[in-house]
Amino acid sequence: MCRPERIRPSPGGGGRRRPELLSLGEFVILVDEFVMNTFEQMIERGHERVCFHHDQPTGLRAIIAIHSTRLGSALGGTRRWHYATEADALYDVLRLAEGMTYKAAAADLEMGGAKSVILLSKSADPTSEAEARAMGRFVDTFGGAYIAAEDVGLDTQYVDWMGLETKYVMGGETVCSGGNPSPYTARGTVNAMKAALAHLGRPVSFDGLTIAIQGVGHVGYQLARILTDHGASIIAADLNRARLQRAVDEFSIQVAAPEQILNVECDILAPCALGGVIDANSARKLRCRIVAGAANNILDDPDEDAVVLKNLGILYAPDIIANAGGMIRLAGMYRGMSEDQVDEKISAIESTMTQVLQEAESMPSTHAAAIALANRRIAEGADASKEQVHAG
Ligand code: NAI
Repeated sequence: MCRPERIRPSPGGGGRRRPELLSLGEFVILVDEFVMNTFEQMIERGHERVCFHHDQPTGLRAIIAIHSTRLGSALGGTRRWHYATEADALYDVLRLAEGMTYKAAAADLEMGGAKSVILLSKSADPTSEAEARAMGRFVDTFGGAYIAAEDVGLDTQYVDWMGLETKYVMGGETVCSGGNPSPYTARGTVNAMKAALAHLGRPVSFDGLTIAIQGVGHVGYQLARILTDHGASIIAADLNRARLQRAVDEFSIQVAAPEQILNVECDILAPCALGGVIDANSARKLRCRIVAGAANNILDDPDEDAVVLKNLGILYAPDIIANAGGMIRLAGMYRGMSEDQVDEKISAIESTMTQVLQEAESMPSTHAAAIALANRRIAEGADASKEQVHAG
């Protein structure tokens, strides 16, 4: 699948003129292009629904994208972020929602994939109960087809506020259930790393390994904790000084500058910040043997960049499998699984990753193998639910 071109409806982006300089006719063409491109992206990536929402009293601007409900209600976190353009926000939410479908299927969950984004006018926009509740009301309009949760920029308090308006949100501590999924995500990522080490014929042990972590936020911090407990040396970077300092104080890690972390010499590179951090050019500057992190969409263009990594001899553990732990936890709670069943599924990330890495030997890349596995499970799951309907 080729990557859709980024659409640039924002007159400030892509070299377009500013809005006040456009004639009415030019403006109509721009809006038209945006709508057409939205459909093109949905069709190309297979999305079912994309909804835009503006809440007048709070100024909330949000998009919910449901990629697939073939296997069940679509689960996916809400990202609160300042995007340079609306097109960037749309691109992000569509891409993230699609990844959630594959993540759920590869983890053998009876859930579909979705995502939502809240567009901030500036990065430091503070959170508020009123905004979170407005987002909760937006989520509620989907009547359970979309289940929201935390993503970058949200915490448990925020989702609990959302939960005051909808029962279709997971990951809170007081109003809605699930709690912070990050420790589960980190555990799953460690399991993915084990599979990658075994695939390379190396001992499945972190003792003495050097692991570089980009971003010691919710997941990266938990990852650093588990890996240092297992004897690894951690090099970390974060744009947020307080978060970095907390990790330094607690785990005696080494620090790298944010612009250098991807290029430090290490056994495993674990991107745990935002997506799109590795592309064909930056891949050539990596000095690691394995890339296995928790960030969604680590590769800028996974279809192409995963092939580049394979050709460079760098083993890429696909993020849709490596970071599924948090989704497994929240989907498990939503579906009424026991703690043991959730733990079993998080442990199974290791065997799923092993299978994908093996299958990838005869395929263009590990990413291609992961998507193929997810698509097989979607097809099997959809067939099974059809049989149930017929049997009933
Ligand atoms: P977070 O917002 O708590 O942490 C991200 C950290 O990365 C922040 O501390 C931020 O300052 C830092 N950062 C951002 N850009 C950076 C850069 N260029 N260099 C260094 N540091 C940078 O987010 P969280 O929850 O830890 O998620 C991290 C990634 O993992 C995201 O891509 C998220 O979508 C993904 N993910 C998270 C899950 C979870 O359970 N929280 C589940 C699955 C995926």
